[in-house]
Amino acid sequence: MNKTPWWASESFWRKVAVWITGGMLVILIFLTFDTVKKITAGSSRVPAYSVINKRIYYRFNPERGFMEPVIGDDAPLFGKMLSEEEAEKLVSLGKMTIQAKNCMNCHTLLGNGAYYAPDLTKAWLDQGWGAESVRENMMVSFLMDPKTNGRGYGTMRRMPNLGITEEEAHGIVAFLKWMSSIDTNGFPNNFKTIPQEGDQ
Ligand code: HEC
Repeated sequence: MNKTPWWASESFWRKVAVWITGGMLVILIFLTFDTVKKITAGSSRVPAYSVINKRIYYRFNPERGFMEPVIGDDAPLFGKMLSEEEAEKLVSLGKMTIQAKNCMNCHTLLGNGAYYAPDLTKAWLDQGWGAESVRENMMVSFLMDPKTNGRGYGTMRRMPNLGITEEEAHGIVAFLKWMSSIDTNGFPNNFKTIPQEGDQ
């Protein structure tokens, strides 16, 4: 008598495989919707694009144990308050330019990309821009002519001139400002911020 026990039968394992695949598919669909909700601009961690009209700080939160972005008073980018649509258009232009010029070939954005040049997640808040009052213009002139306006990170590396127009540079600055407002659980760690009004 060589009867196969039920747990070793082919039909049992076929059913197990079908149920596990089906169950995982449901979980995957749920997680996809959950993630999309969390990464959409206008959610709690990823502010709406019009955040570029506000001052953005980076402050230590003792409860969480790391720096987090704080959204302050009005501080319109390039001195102009933008509607949600206008802000989205400008940030999108910056994003498209960043993709078209393949900035991730050297930089990381939110940790993704290459490690040749600094991470750009909080570049808007970098001390390298000197003071808050001159930052926007410094960023535009750097992006349009990085060879002349580079500041050096002790690596002796230089960013090449990528032929960025003034309009594209404004878009990139808007994108970088918006990205710096994203709550990234303290990433990048140990980032030294530009001295800002209201910083304690
Ligand atoms: C060939 C490599 C390379 C590419 C491509 C590149 N960069 Fe850079 N980038 C650098 C290097 C190197 C530095 C540091 C320059 C310095 O210190 O003077 C830098 C610095 C910067 C900074 C200042 C960083 C900070 O923390 O303040 C910004 C902003 C920046 N790049 C934006 C961009 C954008 C936007 C693009 C795409 C349009 C881009 N870079 C493409 C190499 C690159």
